[in-house]
Amino acid sequence: MKTQVAIVGAGPAGLFLALLLHQAGIDCVVLERRDRAYVEGRVRAGVLEQVTVDLMARLGLDARLRREGLTHGGTNIVSDGELFHVDMAELTGGRAVTVYGQQEVMKDLFDAAEQRGLRIVFEAEDVALHELRGSAAAVGWRKGGAEHRLACDFIAGCDGFHGVSRRAIPAEILRTFERVYPFGWLGVLADVPPCAEELIYCNHARGFALASMRSPTRSRYYIQCALDEPLEAWPDERFWDEVCLRLGPEAGANVVRGPAFEKSIAPLRSFVTEPMRYGRLFLAGDAAHIVPPTGAKGLNLAASDVIMLNEALCEFYETGSERGLDGYSQRALARVWKAERFSWWFTSLTHRFPQMDAFDRRIQTAELAYIRSSSTAQAAFAENYVGLPLE
Ligand code: APR
Ligand code: PHB
Repeated sequence: MKTQVAIVGAGPAGLFLALLLHQAGIDCVVLERRDRAYVEGRVRAGVLEQVTVDLMARLGLDARLRREGLTHGGTNIVSDGELFHVDMAELTGGRAVTVYGQQEVMKDLFDAAEQRGLRIVFEAEDVALHELRGSAAAVGWRKGGAEHRLACDFIAGCDGFHGVSRRAIPAEILRTFERVYPFGWLGVLADVPPCAEELIYCNHARGFALASMRSPTRSRYYIQCALDEPLEAWPDERFWDEVCLRLGPEAGANVVRGPAFEKSIAPLRSFVTEPMRYGRLFLAGDAAHIVPPTGAKGLNLAASDVIMLNEALCEFYETGSERGLDGYSQRALARVWKAERFSWWFTSLTHRFPQMDAFDRRIQTAELAYIRSSSTAQAAFAENYVGLPLE
C-alpha cells in the first residue's frame, strides 16, 4: 500500500487535513485507533472561531453549521456575583464566534469523508512510524491479526496528546513546555434551555463556573472542582445548587435544572512541544499542544495548524518547493503560543488556585474590575477570544 500523506488520528485535526488534501487532489490515508462511534461520541468544547467556520465553508461542510450554529457576538463575565457583558462584535469590527459542538463538527467531517471516498482505517492497532529521516517514510499497524505497512512521502501526526507520533521524535530534539493545573472541570450536559443568550464565564470565591450551550434546548455547564473528586459526590441537585451559587443572583436565577445525561471531570493542562516537525513527520493539533478549555481554543488550534500544513504540502506537490514545509513548525507555533498565552491568562484570572492568598484574590478581582471598566482591556480580550488572524 502506498500514499502521499499518511495521517495518524481521525480527530478534528486528522479529518480536516484529510478533507483539505483530498480537495487539492493529494492522496492520503487516515489511520485511527478507535472506531467512528467512539471518536464522534467524545464530548468536547463547542465554540468555533471564524477561522474554523471558514474552513468548514471552504470544504463545503457548512450547511448544517449555518442552520444550527449559534452566532455569538458577545460573552458575559461574572466577578463575585456581578455580571458584565463584553460586546466582542462591537470591539473587533463585527467578528463573532459560532457555538456548534465538536461532536457535530465530527459528524459533518465523517459524513463528508465517507461521501468523498476518503480512505480511513479504523481500529488500527499498534501504529508505528518508520524512516522519518529517510527518502520515503512508512507507517505500520495491525488490524484483525494481520500486519500492514503503508509507504508515504509524509506523515501527519494528528493523534492527540496520548498518540504515538510525538513520541517518535528523538528526546534530544524535542522540547516540551508544560503547566498542569491543580484542579479540574466538572462538566454536565442537560436538555434544558440555556440560562442566557451568550456564554457566562464566572470567577467566584468558591471557584470558576461556566454556563455554555449546544442549542436553544441543550445546555453545557462546568464548575471548577478537585481532580480527585468522585463523580458520586456530585448528584444533579448538588451540581445545580453550586452552579447557581457561583453564577450569582442575576444569572443563577435563570438556570433551568434538569437531569444530567453526561457528567465527567476533565483535567486542565497547558502543553507545547517544539518543533512540530521532524524529518517527514509533521505534528498538528493536540499531538503538539494542549490548552486549558477556558477560551475554547483546542479545536480552533487544530484547524489553524492543518490549514498551514495543507498549504505547505500543496506548495510542495505543486512546485517541488520545501519552503512551506520548512517554515511550518515556526509558523504554527507562533499562533499556538499566542493562544496558549490567552488560555493560560484567562484560566489564571478566573480560577481559585490552592496557594492563592488574599492578595492574589484582590489582584484577580481588580483585574476583572479593570476589564469591566475599560473598553481597551475588553478589546484585547475580545480580539483573542474571537481568534487571532492566521499569519
Ligand atoms: N494510532 C492511531 N490513532 C490514534 C493513536 C494511535 N496510536 N492515538 C490516538 N489516536 C487517535 C485518537 O483515537 C483520536 O481519535 O487520534 C485522534 C486524536 O484526536 P483528538 O484527541 O481529538 O486531537 P485533535 O484531532 O488534535 O483535536 C484537537 O479536539 O479532541 C479535541 O480537545 C481536543 O479540542 C481539541 C481538539
Ligand atoms: C463548551 O461549551 O463546552 C465550552 C464553551 C466554552 C469554553 C469551554 C467549553 O471556554
